Amino acid sequence: MHIAVLNGPNLNLLGDREPDVYGRATLAEIETATRARARELGADLTWTQTNHEGELVDAIQGLRGRADGAVINAAAFTHTSLAVRDALLAVRVPFVEVHLSNIFAREPARRDSMLADLALGVVTGFGATSYRLGLEGLVGHLRARHAG
Ligand code: DQA
Repeated sequence: MHIAVLNGPNLNLLGDREPDVYGRATLAEIETATRARARELGADLTWTQTNHEGELVDAIQGLRGRADGAVINAAAFTHTSLAVRDALLAVRVPFVEVHLSNIFAREPARRDSMLADLALGVVTGFGATSYRLGLEGLVGHLRARHAG
């Protein structure tokens, strides 16, 4: 089973960036922990981070035929990007939306997601653990689907 994890803008600054909101773990540390959990679950993982909307669209387009599912933290593009939404509609790869912070407990502009209704589910507010929970939910869903 192949899972892609896609990360949007400013997540490369985790650890340093607003630690009271996003925690102290760096993106590299989250990647290491997520890869370890994927290994336990028997899934292989690709990991991408980009600050550019078009590159995120390219990465989503590239999922077709290559990934069984995706864990996506589109960061600010979650709230703004019709292009990211359109790419997800086009490829139709099952995905879980994840956020470190609880987007529903923040400013009004962050309470809307352009992606959430397309997702299998959303994990928001558990810090770095959101990635593990999203991965577990996704793999569980894909396994159940393949078994059924
Ligand atoms: C975020 C929440 C977004 O609102 C914000 O723009 C981010 C990170 C999160 O993981 O909590 O960059 O996606």
